[in-house]
Amino acid sequence: MTNQQTVKHLTQTAMVTALIIVLGFFPGIPVGIIPVPIVLQNMGIFLAAELLGRKYGTIAVALFLGLVALGLPLLSGGRGGAAVFLGPTGGYLVAWLLAPILIGTLMKLTPATTSGYWWLEVGIVWLAGIAFVDIVGAVWLAIQSNMTLSAALLSNLAFIPGDIIKATLAVLIARRVRAVIDFGVAA
Ligand code: BTN
Repeated sequence: MTNQQTVKHLTQTAMVTALIIVLGFFPGIPVGIIPVPIVLQNMGIFLAAELLGRKYGTIAVALFLGLVALGLPLLSGGRGGAAVFLGPTGGYLVAWLLAPILIGTLMKLTPATTSGYWWLEVGIVWLAGIAFVDIVGAVWLAIQSNMTLSAALLSNLAFIPGDIIKATLAVLIARRVRAVIDFGVAA
């Protein structure tokens, strides 16, 4: 890869990190049963994976989480600081870091990014961006708040309809954007 390509990818990475930050301006919606809100910010994680692929998608999310860990109030509702990683949503945050690796790897191993296979790409994001993230989040939530694992998993069903809409939209948007801008999704 030339220096010019590296600069291009890092610029795109910074722009996607900025997008994740902007999506955090929308406050979370409390669900009541668990201390985990419905957020728009996870759509930014889907887009990071979809647009940038596993390497730069992970860098974009890591950059975002690093800024949160440093104390910047970038999570939905203006939260931040290292303590959030040990709070009730810590499992989701760690899973956000891993999601682009999973999504990017599955996209690379399948024809998901090619024309006509949008449904496969949607399925991959549902699996690795929703199911995986919600399961990891629920496991940590159960440990952190003394809930049973089954109660934590069941309560996560509240996120599924919204997450399905966000993930499907992210795939449709990413396919349009990738058609006109080379994001190096295979990286
Ligand atoms: C935070 O702001 O501390 C992280 C919030 C995590 C919310 C999770 S992400 C998956 C699921 N879908 C949502 O809309 N909310 C939860």
